[in-house]
Amino acid sequence: MRDAIRQQAEQVIRRNDRGSYTVPTHGLYPFQWNWDSVLSALGFAHFDEPRAWTEIDTLFAHQWEDGMVPHIIFHEPNDGYFPGPDVYRTGRAVPTSGLTQPPVAGFAVRRMFERARDRDLAERRARALLPRIHAWHEWFHRCRDPQGTGLVAILHPWETGRDNSVDWDGPLSRVSTEGVEPFTRRDIQHANPAHRPTQAQYEGYIRLVQTFRELGWDNTILHDASPFRVADPGFNAILIRSCEDLGWLADRLGEPQIAEQSRSFAARGIAALETLWSEAHGQYLCRDRVTGEAVESLSIGGLIPAFAALPEARMSALAHRIATLGQSCDHLVPSHDPAAPEYDGRRYWRGPVWLIVNYLIADGLRRAGHDGIVGRIMSDSLRLIEKSGFAEYYDPVTAEPCGGVDFTWTAAMVLEILAQEEAPA
Ligand code: DGY
Repeated sequence: MRDAIRQQAEQVIRRNDRGSYTVPTHGLYPFQWNWDSVLSALGFAHFDEPRAWTEIDTLFAHQWEDGMVPHIIFHEPNDGYFPGPDVYRTGRAVPTSGLTQPPVAGFAVRRMFERARDRDLAERRARALLPRIHAWHEWFHRCRDPQGTGLVAILHPWETGRDNSVDWDGPLSRVSTEGVEPFTRRDIQHANPAHRPTQAQYEGYIRLVQTFRELGWDNTILHDASPFRVADPGFNAILIRSCEDLGWLADRLGEPQIAEQSRSFAARGIAALETLWSEAHGQYLCRDRVTGEAVESLSIGGLIPAFAALPEARMSALAHRIATLGQSCDHLVPSHDPAAPEYDGRRYWRGPVWLIVNYLIADGLRRAGHDGIVGRIMSDSLRLIEKSGFAEYYDPVTAEPCGGVDFTWTAAMVLEILAQEEAPA
């Protein structure tokens, strides 16, 4: 059974391979997406290490001069996706979006480096990527935390990857959609509209893109000018973990300055995350940087911090919170609390389970020794695959496959989970 699943996972990745980058899935997402690509490289590394490094190199070849790494690289024209380069208008030779995405590269490159069978190749490729990833981390701290709070802000729901999370309902409702240009969505031609964000949410997404475009995608002004600015604990935890891992890598590669600065970013982030902790809910909450208020939303964004090296009391509380969520669904980890009124088990990030997030959360909990809950998350993940294939996401109660099919990063995470199952304890 395990061998058959492994083979299918490889086939999914190969089918979505476009030579030097992978698409998340055919049809719905026909370009290179930032964190999809980096996490997919972890899957490639199990059967083709050179190809895994190329995946990340291709992404970083499109890094902006200021250090930002865009969330989409539009390698080839394709009118099956909206919004395309004509909406972003970022003026790049190979068009890109002007937004970014969760910075998982520091984490993934360390992992690929540590596990590499071809040590020379790994050292060469990691050494070349190191300053680029560091420049991206510096960009976050410079452009997304201009007040030096230790936490960076996201300026668009798409930057978190959790597009329609309940977390954004309040902050997005304050974004005026006046002047939004008429558009035709393509996503609902490829996937069930009941699994996707609503039209009202899309109007907010597109209006924000127009605003940033009108500001010339100038990252020195976007943070303060944006009507949508949120400190998201999940996004920050991913950045913190990547800084920590990049620091580790920089030590190994003899780059003490990068090592020191990365460790300092991570330490400041861990301290600042405390301001997002909610004792009442036993998890972290987003903070709307426009109003200064906490966002009362029980989403997975408040659990992803388990990926970072939190104090043990926080780790235990998150493990407990996830175990409690497990009492109201058959498959962990739902992207929103099933007991909350806004929960919707099939609508994208308002309830469904995503394997990539399961993997990140479980990775952090494993490091902290919470093996019991890690075992449950991993076995729930594999049960979803056995029942419902390599979907984009799944209903946490019924296991119904939702969104797109044959997803690259779902397949990559399966290869990771199977390899971890086989690794000696
Ligand atoms: C989409 O188009 O669904 C994306 O999440 C934007 O990156």
